[in-house]
Amino acid sequence: MTLLDVATIKADFPIFEKKMRNDARLVYLDSGATSQKPRQVMAAEQYFYTHQNAAVHRGSHLLAEEASAAYEGARETVAAFLGAKSDEIIFTKSATESLNLLAYSFSNSATGRFALGVGDEILLSEMEHHANLIPWQQLAKRTGATLKWFEVTPDGRLDLSQIDQLLSARTKIVALTHQSNVLGTINPITEIAKKAKEHGALFVLDACQSVPHFATDVSKLGVDFVTFSGHKMLGPTGIGVLWGRSELLAAMEPFLFGGSMIETVTMESATWAPAPRKFEAGVPNMAQAVGLAAAINYLEAIGMDKVHEHEVALTTYALEGLQTIKGLTIIGPTNMDSRGGVLSFALDGIHPHDGCQVLDQYGIAVRTGHHCAWPLMRKYGVSGTTRASFYIYNDLADIDALVTGIEATKKYFKVS
Ligand code: ALA
Repeated sequence: MTLLDVATIKADFPIFEKKMRNDARLVYLDSGATSQKPRQVMAAEQYFYTHQNAAVHRGSHLLAEEASAAYEGARETVAAFLGAKSDEIIFTKSATESLNLLAYSFSNSATGRFALGVGDEILLSEMEHHANLIPWQQLAKRTGATLKWFEVTPDGRLDLSQIDQLLSARTKIVALTHQSNVLGTINPITEIAKKAKEHGALFVLDACQSVPHFATDVSKLGVDFVTFSGHKMLGPTGIGVLWGRSELLAAMEPFLFGGSMIETVTMESATWAPAPRKFEAGVPNMAQAVGLAAAINYLEAIGMDKVHEHEVALTTYALEGLQTIKGLTIIGPTNMDSRGGVLSFALDGIHPHDGCQVLDQYGIAVRTGHHCAWPLMRKYGVSGTTRASFYIYNDLADIDALVTGIEATKKYFKVS
């Protein structure tokens, strides 16, 4: 098990100086919801506002030039991080917006590969976050297409036994999560994408829980689109990314219309600038893009392989520790085969929200509830779970604190 030097990393994150309830230290186990931010990211945003702030791609004064260079520099940083070309990177405000962009862009197409209609199918899975479910439900409603989905197995894996029935010439879009935000399962994307391609389907990958945690090379995944957000990977809120293959972006209709995304405009009509501008109407989230680039630089200085190794070590230790607790059931894979650092569990006799309040008394921050994945909760017959999720600033002591906190919770509720 190779662990990162967490003490040095933590010194970069001012939030860990804060005292929690009862003067406890912060045990932050909710990075799956949003990560904490290092000083370097906050400094990059502040530098932009202090020295470079102007609307990008408009005006030819010095600040406009510098702001545009900083924003486009951020795009290049994201592209290099993903093994992509920079004109394939679209900045949005969130992964949710990236997914909606795709769904609306597809329904804005009257003909061709992106246009859907009655008889066409969209293939999802039961483990999707609502952000990768509802936009497709709505697209199906707008177009008459049908939703299909992979089920999940009792041990938290995608059930691929029906793949040859689910994928067919009717499948226009496959939209799947890379790593479940509830189960921690890492799905065999390359294998599924290969089959999807044989049927001519477009493949959309929700990479919100994977890009922050392990190296992602879009040129090797075999997918067509990748979406993720900045705030789960040390970056600011208000910045999301959509990567798409150049030829697809060139052929797609825009989603948002307005300033900056045009080539020519008359009173009757308009034509579009090439991607990525076509998909970035309005003044974009410039400082946030610059902050995201700083977050990527921070992660790359550590090395994404080391980030992943660290999380594997933490999750292995957590699985061992949690499974010693009587009445605790892990919801998701109980071994480290294709799983990441997101761990959901249920405690006999204790509602997740009640348990969370006791943990909070010890400074332990976990997420509880349905995790924006209601169909998955129904599948496992629970109203919600408690979820611990790990990142570079967590160490084994945090996991010990969680295990001790859960034992204390059981004692508080007199559950043996
Ligand atoms: N999507 C985030 C989560 O899983 C908010 O917690």
